[in-house]
Amino acid sequence: MATDEKKERILIVKLLVIGSGAREHALAWRLANTPGARKVYVAPGNAGIARERGMENLPLTEPEALADFAEKEKVRLTVVGPEAPLAAGIVDIFQARGLKIFGPTRAAAQLEASKDFAKRFMTRHRIPTARFATFTEIDAANAYVDQEGAPIVIKADGLAAGKGVVVAQTKEEARAAIAEMLAGGALGQAGRQVVIEEFLKGEEASFIVISDGKNVLPLASSQDHKRIGDGDTGANTGGMGAYSPAPVVTPEVYARVMREIILPTVKGMEKDGVPYVGFLYAGLMIGKDGGVKTLEFNCRMGDPETQPIMMRLKSNLLTLLEYALEGRLKDVEAEWDRRIALSVVLAAENYPATPRTGDAISGLPKNNVWDENTRVFHAATAEREGNVVTAGGRVLTVCALGETVRAVRKRAYDVISGIQWEGMQYRADIGHRALVAHDDA
Ligand code: AMP
Ligand code: GLY
Repeated sequence: MATDEKKERILIVKLLVIGSGAREHALAWRLANTPGARKVYVAPGNAGIARERGMENLPLTEPEALADFAEKEKVRLTVVGPEAPLAAGIVDIFQARGLKIFGPTRAAAQLEASKDFAKRFMTRHRIPTARFATFTEIDAANAYVDQEGAPIVIKADGLAAGKGVVVAQTKEEARAAIAEMLAGGALGQAGRQVVIEEFLKGEEASFIVISDGKNVLPLASSQDHKRIGDGDTGANTGGMGAYSPAPVVTPEVYARVMREIILPTVKGMEKDGVPYVGFLYAGLMIGKDGGVKTLEFNCRMGDPETQPIMMRLKSNLLTLLEYALEGRLKDVEAEWDRRIALSVVLAAENYPATPRTGDAISGLPKNNVWDENTRVFHAATAEREGNVVTAGGRVLTVCALGETVRAVRKRAYDVISGIQWEGMQYRADIGHRALVAHDDA
């Protein structure tokens, strides 16, 4: 090996991102674009990641195999994107082998993996959330619905990939959801226990922080669009678009969320003997009176919220995560682009029910870049005979950064007008709430 080549190998910092969505593409992009030579492996990755300089897909998903790779290749830091590996204990496996990984342990990830755990935790630590009760028996659950009335919300206890929540408008709908979860077995183990909770009114927002177990660093605020259809109608999805900042998170709301939800959560987890290190995502319902309640916790970044947040992050993401792992978050601050970032998800036909896959995508910008402020992150894409094809429900996220909501929206939709595949669907109104709230409406 030539000396120069040797030197380069030593100087390249290797990082590993676990996952394959647009969230992971955006995280890998930010990690790859920090100063110094970087190589970011994404496992298993997607066709968009394969086209990026400094990134490489890694066809591995088993935690032990990933740990073997990290050990052998001397990966400096592994970052976990989705909840499933966290809930399965990938952080515990890496830690037991002395490998540096960013994310909560299996015990801490219960904040997302069990709604019953999360609700009991919030009650114990007086963190505001909807009134609730937990059931394993249909009769008792139905009796509770009779007593409480509709609308009412039925949630499968375990991870159900966004399919475990039914907002029932009538008692009949509530009973049907209970029967399906407890008796129908549609959600398997995740639905063997249900949480029934009070229906909350207000506007939703995503509040995501980095936690080092004691201190937190809040990320820029964001809001997503959960429903498939324009005007926030139709089926619930993983998210059809997002933007940052979220106008609904005013300085007053921000202060309340930190004081009433985020800090008590991190302190409570520490007190309970399960310190929380990782991204912590609180799904909020913000009432007209400015009151805040926790709808759910996620033990990871949001998708699509990550994409606009990463577009705006100016600080070195690797540094922030390493400070968190050292318990030193109070010594750093994050710097944000003051402009607005907005992302639109392009989904396959029949998403979210049974997305059709294998369609060739045309009109993708070269290397995912449209211009300096506009780029495409890939989610479910694969390479087939030199073509990029759809490989799942949410296929791409188009992201733009600009001075006004109106301008970023226009830019994102201009890019989208050139992209095509059979059955492609997207919402035409991403950011409508921000448009109303901001001065440029
Ligand atoms: P979750 O996965 O718990 O965030 O629920 C998915 C979606 O269901 C949320 O984003 C809300 O739109 C809705 N939802 C969940 N819980 C409630 C509630 N208690 N009241 C009103 N809507 C809710
Ligand atoms: N966009 C919602 C989530 O990531 O859970």
